[in-house]
Amino acid sequence: MQIHDDHIEFETGGVIRRLHHVWLRDNCGCPDCRVPQTAERRLFTASIPDDIAPRGIKVSADGDLAIEWSDGHSSVFSAEWLNRFDYSSVAPTPDHAELWDSTFTVPRFDHDEMFSDSVVEIAYLDALRIFGAAVVSNVPALAGEVERFATRLGHVREVAFERVHNVYHDPEGYNVAHTPIELKPHTDMPSYHWPPSIQLLHFLRNRAVGGETVLVDGWHAVETLRQEDPEAFSTLTRIPVSFQLFSDDEDTAATAPMIQLDPFGDISTFRFSNQLALPVRARFEDVGEFYRAYRKLGRIIDSAESKVVFKAADGDLVTVHGHRVLHGRLPFEPGTGERHLQDVYMEYDDLMARRRVLLGIHKPLSPTPEAKT
Ligand code: OGA
Ligand code: ZN
Ligand code: ZN
Repeated sequence: MQIHDDHIEFETGGVIRRLHHVWLRDNCGCPDCRVPQTAERRLFTASIPDDIAPRGIKVSADGDLAIEWSDGHSSVFSAEWLNRFDYSSVAPTPDHAELWDSTFTVPRFDHDEMFSDSVVEIAYLDALRIFGAAVVSNVPALAGEVERFATRLGHVREVAFERVHNVYHDPEGYNVAHTPIELKPHTDMPSYHWPPSIQLLHFLRNRAVGGETVLVDGWHAVETLRQEDPEAFSTLTRIPVSFQLFSDDEDTAATAPMIQLDPFGDISTFRFSNQLALPVRARFEDVGEFYRAYRKLGRIIDSAESKVVFKAADGDLVTVHGHRVLHGRLPFEPGTGERHLQDVYMEYDDLMARRRVLLGIHKPLSPTPEAKT
């Protein structure tokens, strides 16, 4: 056991722990430092003395750590809690998605099974977490079912236009989706600074000739660009693009680079909507390079190697991660049969909250060891 200026170091059960004084003091689990009924922090972190240090330390045979502090306080940390949160040798890693191309089969689940068996529901949520896409079959093909589906899992993210968006052939419609022409793979609502991170597309009737659904893993396409042409990748993380979607009554607009990265350098938000991008207004020197990069990415996205194509059946509900997986459709022939789908948006965080509750992992582990009898 060594007490250094700002951290302690000790060995227990073959592992070396290195933990900062302030970190340990901040995470004390005693009833003065945590609100017992909620497990939230009560200790105001900024109130910890700058020179906080242990006066005495004991590590039990089980690996529990007891500390007497210079401010007179005492703390106990269980080995289980330390195993969970120890940062001595582990660099934080992001939750890695598995990227896919045209060879991917989108995971499929049955509606009734999903809502009668939490294992199936968790598998659906994991498909969204890992692949960013899932299809649920046999969702009753009734108007409004998609909203009911969403509220069973979480909350509807309301956006402009309608809470439930109807997509069918409508010569008066405000969006190209209301025409029968092809929709290149895109993300919806790039005209928000935080576009909806989940989109549900529920096919009530899909009986016209054509209109097949196209899905593309946008993160895979972006990673391909990053490998083939790092400069093009970096250009799209740097140059902001404006997007707009409006109707007679509403007008949404946002400006952001198409690719946004998280602190690990992984893609966090990706927006791609050829139909909604406004004329680029970047520095004169950047416009040529922007088009080079954007067109290269567009060709990757639109290539046969990227696209998964299938005809959704009546009652199919396609879910996509809205900052990752692009959706589109092939053209259809309006006279040949009815085609009507309903969209609802949600937030990914709410679905992951649902997953944690179903898994029972939402209750925080207390730092304080269980009383041993
Ligand atoms: C949409 C959309 C695809 C389709 O509703 O956002 O892109 O299949 N529609 O019509
Ligand atoms: Zn305490
Ligand atoms: Zn769309």
